[in-house]
Amino acid sequence: MLDALENRTALPPEIARRRTFAIISHPDAGKTTLTEKFLLFGGAIQMAGQVRAKGEARRTRSDFMQMEKDRGISVSASAMSFDYKQFRFNLVDTPGHSDFSEDTYRTLTAVDAAIMVIDGAKGVESQTRKLFEVCRLRDLPILTFCNKMDRESRDTFEIIDEIQENLAIDVTPASWPIGTGRDFIGCYDILRDRLELIDRADRNRVAESIEINGLSDPKLKQHVPAALLEKLQEELEMARELLPPLDPKALLEGTLTPIWFGSAINSFGVRELMDGIATYGPVPQIQKAQPREILPEEPKVSGFVFKVQANMDPKHRDRVAFVRLASGHFERGMKLLHVRSKKPMTITNPVMFLAADRELAEEAWAGDIIGIPNHGQLRIGDTLTEGEELRVTGIPSFAPELLQTARAGDPLKAKHLEKALMQFAEEGAAKVFKPDIGSGFIVGVVGALQFEVLASRIELEYGLPVRFEPSQFTSARWVSGDRLAVEKFVNANKQHIAHDNDGDIVYLTRLQWDIDRVVRDYPDVKLTATKEMM
Ligand code: G4P
Repeated sequence: MLDALENRTALPPEIARRRTFAIISHPDAGKTTLTEKFLLFGGAIQMAGQVRAKGEARRTRSDFMQMEKDRGISVSASAMSFDYKQFRFNLVDTPGHSDFSEDTYRTLTAVDAAIMVIDGAKGVESQTRKLFEVCRLRDLPILTFCNKMDRESRDTFEIIDEIQENLAIDVTPASWPIGTGRDFIGCYDILRDRLELIDRADRNRVAESIEINGLSDPKLKQHVPAALLEKLQEELEMARELLPPLDPKALLEGTLTPIWFGSAINSFGVRELMDGIATYGPVPQIQKAQPREILPEEPKVSGFVFKVQANMDPKHRDRVAFVRLASGHFERGMKLLHVRSKKPMTITNPVMFLAADRELAEEAWAGDIIGIPNHGQLRIGDTLTEGEELRVTGIPSFAPELLQTARAGDPLKAKHLEKALMQFAEEGAAKVFKPDIGSGFIVGVVGALQFEVLASRIELEYGLPVRFEPSQFTSARWVSGDRLAVEKFVNANKQHIAHDNDGDIVYLTRLQWDIDRVVRDYPDVKLTATKEMM
């Protein structure tokens, strides 16, 4: 592989200008507001408020569900593309709620970097930590935005310390806040030696920026009150001594995060963050696959499905597979090999997700995300290529943490329910297990709220009332190992055995004790909590 890497050709300019990233945050830290400002400055929307205007014609793609409106959470991840300066940003939305962590994990397999938004008053919160850990598993580069600086917030060093200690990552300040709460007047842009002043009067306007010639520039005095200036100079000096400088390599390796301070609602600090992504955010990266890695500059097109969304448009029973292009230059109408089924697929109606609507994608490049409408052929983890049998790896399916039995409200509709459940399973919204003994289905999810979402969607999209009832089981493990040993194990444990929607064998458990017993009694049988989606 090294040879191949050494001989890498330069990225085509269209690929080199792409930045594909996600925003991670604890609910309420300001992800939606920041997304909206990105779209505003990327020219994708004309005024703030469009992303939030719910229920109206201007709903964004991530806003189409009633549940979402009611609960104010983003249930489904979607992707948005827009240009910023000479760059093309692909922003992949991640659900912030912990109940959707599996979806989030898969979404993060489709991006090259993440922006971590934290609330300046709250610092690192539980969900930030969880999502950060997921990024860490993939060594994703992370850029940090400390939001809500217009409110009373914590001491800057304290925030930085907390990130360093809590998340075990080095932090370098890209900007430094001047004053907090009502006294917050703006930031000193450390990377460009500029003073950025907040304009509280107009939330859609970009802040004024003033070129500064170092910290002793007399211009500073004209704009920053004496007491704040003294504090700023003192703090910046300390920061220079105590904190590492911005090392682009460490950033790309995921060991150092630059932090910008700002106020998304006031459009403050957002442009600087976008410039940061453009300058330091990674270009489309090499994709892990079997039997070889995929380089983005390869002329042939390849991509993989990281998410399937059913019925995005309630009027059509379509499904959209979200595909991250790993290499090449895609053009509409191309014939690609669906590696799992070994069948060719002509991609006639690919869509790109622009902020306000979806549009036909005439072309796309490595790094982009396109949606492919289909009738169920495309599943999470599938690879598409121009003929080579490559399989993208590293897209896992997690064992559910909660199991319930699903029953059709109308017993005559049991078959319909099965179909609906299978579709949701393929979409990745739930695990569906058919027990070997007995009737009905056991549905597994990672968070309790998913049951409500499922029930509401089954009713809305399929017109089927459904009940979820407690199951005697609490978790599930995939079974693998020596064929004979697995057979013996399955026969002796029939009441615990089920098959998932791919037909793979699953062991349903009640307690950890069940798992320990299998490990002890069946050394040749392997139980796993994750399964690679292929
Ligand atoms: P989320 O997607 O991460 O959950 O956060 P979201 O953007 O929805 O923001 C959560 C709340 O924080 C919103 O207030 C939003 O207006 C506010 N907010 C976002 N950025 C800033 C900021 O820079 N400063 C201040 N002071 N507030 C900010 P809300 O009252 O829950 O909603 P809304 O009534 O404003 O829509």
